[in-house]
Amino acid sequence: MKTLFSSVKALLLFLFTLPFYNASAQKKGDDPKMNAFVSSLMSRMTLDEKIGQLNLVTGGVPTTGSVVNKGIEESIKKGNIGGMFGIWGADKVKQVQDIAVKNSRLHIPMIFGLDVIHGHETVFPIPLGVSATWDMGLIEQSAHIAAKEATAEGLNWVFSPMVDIARDPRWGRISEGAGEDPWLGSQIAKAMVKGYQGSSMMNADAVMACVKHFALYGGAEAGREYNTVDMSLIKMYQDYLPPYKAAVDAGAGSFMSSFNTINGVPATGNRWLLTKLLRDQWGFKGFVVSDYTAVNELTNHGLGDLQTVSALALKAGLDMDMVGEGFLTTLKQSLKEGKVTQQEIDLACRRVLEAKYKLGLFNNPYKSIDPAREDKDVLTPENRAFSRKIAEHSFVLLKNNKQTLPLKKSGTIALVGPLADNHSEMLGTWVVAGDPKKSVSVREGIKNVAGNDVNVLYAKGSNITEDSLLNARSFFFGMKQEKDSRSPQQMIDEAVETAKKADVVVAVVGESANMSGESSSRSDINIPESQRDLLRALVQTGKPLVIVLFNGRPLTLVWENKHADAILDAWAPGTEAGNAIADVLFGNYNPAGKITATFPQSVGQIPIYYNHKNTGRPYDPAAPAKFKSDYIDISNDPLFPFGYGLSYTTFNYGDIKLNKTNLKGNETLKATVKVTNTGKYAGEEVVQLYISDPVASISRSVKELKGYQKISLQPGESRMVTFDINTAALKFYNDQLVYDWEPGQFIIQIGTNSSDIHSASVQWLK
Ligand code: BGC
Repeated sequence: MKTLFSSVKALLLFLFTLPFYNASAQKKGDDPKMNAFVSSLMSRMTLDEKIGQLNLVTGGVPTTGSVVNKGIEESIKKGNIGGMFGIWGADKVKQVQDIAVKNSRLHIPMIFGLDVIHGHETVFPIPLGVSATWDMGLIEQSAHIAAKEATAEGLNWVFSPMVDIARDPRWGRISEGAGEDPWLGSQIAKAMVKGYQGSSMMNADAVMACVKHFALYGGAEAGREYNTVDMSLIKMYQDYLPPYKAAVDAGAGSFMSSFNTINGVPATGNRWLLTKLLRDQWGFKGFVVSDYTAVNELTNHGLGDLQTVSALALKAGLDMDMVGEGFLTTLKQSLKEGKVTQQEIDLACRRVLEAKYKLGLFNNPYKSIDPAREDKDVLTPENRAFSRKIAEHSFVLLKNNKQTLPLKKSGTIALVGPLADNHSEMLGTWVVAGDPKKSVSVREGIKNVAGNDVNVLYAKGSNITEDSLLNARSFFFGMKQEKDSRSPQQMIDEAVETAKKADVVVAVVGESANMSGESSSRSDINIPESQRDLLRALVQTGKPLVIVLFNGRPLTLVWENKHADAILDAWAPGTEAGNAIADVLFGNYNPAGKITATFPQSVGQIPIYYNHKNTGRPYDPAAPAKFKSDYIDISNDPLFPFGYGLSYTTFNYGDIKLNKTNLKGNETLKATVKVTNTGKYAGEEVVQLYISDPVASISRSVKELKGYQKISLQPGESRMVTFDINTAALKFYNDQLVYDWEPGQFIIQIGTNSSDIHSASVQWLK
């Protein structure tokens, strides 16, 4: 049996990694006019010019590796560059486009990209925060506004959305994605692509999305940045690939390959991934760019010298080489030596030119370059108002004892913490164009919102960290943390004195913007020690303590959860940070965000995620026993489960009512719960639907999110919330990677988060 299983597995792996010639990958795009245009242009291009289209250079910002490009102007004139990222602003982009369009032989326009990750000049919350809104309308609009601002500054391509599933909060880039769930991640991927690309990429306010990082980057071992990824095909298909696939289905124009390995072959040189899966199975029609110097890095992965790895990447299905110039400097030689074919170079060149065509750049290379729009469309009061709104919706109320929040608009507040009177940390990680100086600090926000009856006393209380190594290593793009020169004790003493004079203490603490994000993995995910010392001292004052938390990842907050009276998770809220936080603190908006990544009690529980398997010896807290799947020093429970988040009001869930309990084939199951607002405030609630499949041919997750509805209820109001469920929600990948459902029992679960749920059982037969 074991041998049979191993040989089936080996055959599968062989089939999936087979580097065979694939006829369908050679097909041209679908639009005959575009095909004719591109064919005619390519018939006039030299080999060097074709290879030039595959070369993406950086104009300098951001640089996330040690290599930057030189001699760009000359290269553009020679037709050696297809696109550029790292510059923005109508004038600047125009200058560079001028060189390509006026001074290169064939006048081929360049494509201009940038890391527009959570807004452009108007910055929205970090993506992990945005995902906590569970509001696809807001998410799509955030991408649309970012596209509008980016195009006004001459850009036509954004390196977003990042759709990597992440279940390991040590990994700093968990902040850039939508958390741990494949179903929710897929909805968000679609909304982002739609928001960026609009109804047509030809529109002056639309950009081409670049879905990243393909693939599985979030599965890095030990949460260590750029580390190896190694996972089963079932896990890949079931849990990690769906959001990328959803982005293809939504029409994403481009993809970025990831740095990590997949089945031992780095993504950037992985033909199974970039051609067989992405193009042949999923029907992706756009182009694939490497991540920053990822082609060159194939050498460190052990795949050969630059010429060898560049040929490998091209043959795998990579079309554009970011920064490393491996394609530019070696493909010609490889063609001569028969290591790549003319057809392979042509195909990549065609895909890049098609992207430019789809963006309308051949009609008008200056399409979105309009200095008037820069004044009209960027950082407008409307965009700022939207940023404030989406930030409010992203906040998650993690704790609220005895209704400490909302605060009264009277009395004295002690505002403390290194993030309370701070502009530089409001925007979060991966902000390239946003200006921290234009952000609203929490201190300013409270002043704007609280009114004259509130007396606000301020003390910094601590530095973000006293750990000089952590301090030095959490800088990104030259950002520096301001450090107070007073001793930690002096700062704490001042904060304690301030707290004693107040009715309530609001401590704004947590991670600095770049303690998460790229190259910011942490092995300890506590609030930095200097700030915990401050919190400990504040607790001793006996004053009610509200923590406003800044974080780019789930943190271990066991102590804080025990001692603080209220915790509001604000992530990194963006340009309108302070106003949005104050709106929520004072109850102008009742928080409704729900976390999309599990908060562990301890780093030792990682990876921890709600849709895990049962194991053969599941631990039952009601009947503790030895030899069960557990720890001897901590429970299996997370601190806060996936989907968790409180409100200033309370919601009661009735039992699930089903329209039938025995179903067949394509019938629809209607599952209804009555949700009642039992508190004093109007509020929104994300009603979540999970399904489990207790008996199947493979071991299934204990439950999987399959839907949700975000509803709004007045105090005392009830609503019947109905989910229509059909067999699409029951499907999964079996051990042959066939996506189907199997008849039998299913447990329908509806509730306020992934742990607090009501259940009902049905039989569903084929
Ligand atoms: C990151 C990408 C980013 C690229 C360009 C890389 O280091 O991994 O997410 O888009 O740099 O800035």
